[in-house]
Order: sequence, then structure tokens, then C-alpha cells
Amino acid sequence: MEADELNLLFEVFEDAPRQGPGSIETTRHALRLLPDSLRVERVLDLGCGTGGSTIVLAQHTGAHVTAVDIHPPFLAALRARAGELGLADSITTVAADMADVTSLGTGFDLVWAEGSAYSIGFENALRSWRPLLRSGGCLVVTELVWFVAEPAERARAFFADEYLDMRDEATRIDQARDVGYELVGSFRLPAEDWRAYYAGLEAPLREAISRRGDREIYTTLQLEREIYETCGDDYGYLCAWPCRSWQNQRADPRPPDKPMQQTGLRPAADRQDVGRHDGSPAAHSGRSHNSPFAPADHITLAVQALSNQFRGNPMQDQAVSMAVRKIARITGKSGQSEQLRLALARLESATRHEPGCVEFTFFQAISDPDSFVLLEHFIDQSALDAHMQLEHTRAFFSAQLLDSVTAVDVPRLS
Ligand SMILES: C[S@@+](CC[C@H](N)C(=O)[O-])C[C@H]1O[C@@H](n2cnc3c(N)ncnc32)[C@H](O)[C@@H]1O
Repeated sequence: MEADELNLLFEVFEDAPRQGPGSIETTRHALRLLPDSLRVERVLDLGCGTGGSTIVLAQHTGAHVTAVDIHPPFLAALRARAGELGLADSITTVAADMADVTSLGTGFDLVWAEGSAYSIGFENALRSWRPLLRSGGCLVVTELVWFVAEPAERARAFFADEYLDMRDEATRIDQARDVGYELVGSFRLPAEDWRAYYAGLEAPLREAISRRGDREIYTTLQLEREIYETCGDDYGYLCAWPCRSWQNQRADPRPPDKPMQQTGLRPAADRQDVGRHDGSPAAHSGRSHNSPFAPADHITLAVQALSNQFRGNPMQDQAVSMAVRKIARITGKSGQSEQLRLALARLESATRHEPGCVEFTFFQAISDPDSFVLLEHFIDQSALDAHMQLEHTRAFFSAQLLDSVTAVDVPRLS
């Protein structure tokens, strides 16, 4: 990429709400799916950009968030937004290279990295970030992955230049396990997150181009968008939340690899608090009991995460006593797992827009691609009844991809 284009892209991204696909709703969704038992007081947001996720993390966890990025102008934009939203005391920005995490401290309850792990190599990132977490803490990471075994040639050629080490979902999940995490769950970012990301870049791109007086400039960003529009079913972002195991507390004997890609920017050493923060580690639970997650396959782990999520406090129960929660185990017709996965993805995306839907998430078993688990949570029975009558639900069932469905009601336990 030419230096001119690189400068233009930095300008565009500095003015953009996000620097990669994602959304407020997706960040909140991932937060909701974390184990209820996870007490969150200290959060680290790595590769935070202008703070698309940082702001949501501060608002929805009430924790203190340390936000790290290598590009100081992104952090300046984040500080300005945090100030406007009254979050100055909740966020500390640190201009640093996330490949060298030694100065960031340890004992974080939650480490968050949306779209940034790739820049120092995914496996290397997960390995070197693990010591940042307290025992039992969680890492939430989004990563660009191939969704299909044979991606379109155009997409393959584009990412051979842009992200040579791009892998499939199963490989990334295996790598997380290999470097000492237990996988609690994962989901794919919805297509709306890509559309919103590109839409958010339109005005800054137009303005940056017109500042240069050149209306014809064609950037990698525009090419990337075209590739997404034509081949976007073949790849996308996986959001996974592996946790540092309670059981596996030995020091990792393997040193982190050398970073696979560098941005070419030098890390600045400035550390700027948005507001007051004394840097002292907040008290945390110091939990040392064994993991509640049995070593099991993807579905078991997902169900475990759900049961934690549904065990709320009795005060909340009164307000939501009419809610309907179900876990459905779905078996697809043999040989049609890919069609069923796509149909479930469409159903999930449409259902999440229903006013009565609180949660609608499906998981596919890695060990048996015909097996799925669906987590459903509606505000009440009439919301579920309405869901069953909607066009997208009818279309899902009329596709006749199902071999069997068994659903259990999950009452909220107090
Ligand atoms: C794709 S953007 C994602 C930004 C943000 N998390 C989001 O989702 O909008 C990747 C971010 O990682 C930052 N980054 C890349 N390499 C880095 C490094 N070695 N250390 C710290 N930040 C880095 C970039 O400056 C950029 O803000």
C-alpha cells in the first residue's frame, strides 16, 4: 500500500466510530453471554481504536477499562468521546504495542480484543495475553475467519495480500485450547455489523478524499467492501470467549512468538488517563475453586454458559417471571449441516430484531456438525407465539432441514 493511501486510511479511521466490523449490540451481546459467576471490575481493551467497544464495556460493566492502542490519535478520539459521555473516570488510555504486554499489569477479570489479535498473530496474541488474566478471567476476541472450506477465488486472492494467516473457525478454537484456555462459547458477527461498519466509513472517506481534491481515488477499503458484497458468505468474524482455566494455573513454559505482522508504527510511551485512576488493582474475588465447565464439547460448554446466565438473582426474577426460556437441541438431516447452519443464522439474525426477543443464539457442535443447540429467551409466551407465526420462522421450518428437535424449558433458578 502506498504511503499516501495509508495516510488517507488513518485519517478516515480517526474520524470513524469503529475501525473494524462490530457493533454496540454485538459487544453487549458478548457481555451478556459471559458466565454470571465472572465478577468484572478490571477490563483491558486491546487494540481499542477509537473505542467502539471500550465505551460499551465501561457503560455496561461499570468496571474500570484500560484501553490500549498503538495509534495515539485513535486514543485521543476515544478520550474525547469518553469525556462527552461522562465516562472520563472509567477509562484509562495507554498508547502501547500489545505485542509487549509486560507493562500493562496483570489480574484483569476481562480482556477484550475486537478485530485486533490478528495484527500480532492470533495464536501468539492469545498465548501472550493469557498471563494478563486473573485465574478464571475471560478473554473475548473477534477474529476474521473463513466460513467455508473453498472460499471464492476473489476473496482468497484479496486476503492472501491482506491477511495471509486467515484460518477457519475450528482452527482458531483449537489454538485457543492449545494455549491454555477453556472455550465458553462463540458466535458469528451478524452481517449488519459489516454493513454498519462500512456505512460508518462513508462520510469520513468522502471528506478525506475531497480534502485531497481527488474524487477518483480508489482505496483498498473500497476493494475490501466490494469483496465483502460479492463473497461475504465465505468469511466473517468469529467472536469467541475463551476463559483462562481455573484448573490450569501453571506458568506457560512457551515464550510468545515474534509478532507475525507489525503495523509499522512505533509504540509511543505516553500513558494518559481520561480522568482520575490511581492504577491500583481493584479488589477482586480471588476465586480459586475449580472450573464449573466440564471438559466437554462445544455444545456442552455453551449450555453450561447458558445455565450460568439464567441463574439470576431473585430480585430480577420478580420482574421477569413471565419470561420464556428454552434450550433446544436440534439434529439436522444427514449431509445438510451447512444448509441448516445458514438457515439458523438467518433465523437468528431475523429473530433478534423481534421486539419480544431477549436472546436467540445457536451453536453448532464441532464434533458433530449435524448437532446444534439453540438458546431462546422471549419476554413472555405471547412473544414466543408471535415468533412462531412470523415469516422467517415459517420459512425456517418449511425448508425441512430438521431430523429432530427437543426443547426443554429453563426456569430461572434463584
Ligand atoms: C481492526 S482495528 C479494531 C479497532 C477496534 N477494536 C474496533 O473494533 O473498532 C485494529 C486496532 O488495533 C490497533 N493495533 C494494531 N496493531 C497494534 C499493536 N501492535 N499494538 C496495539 N494496537 C495495535 C490498530 O491501531 C487498530 O486500532
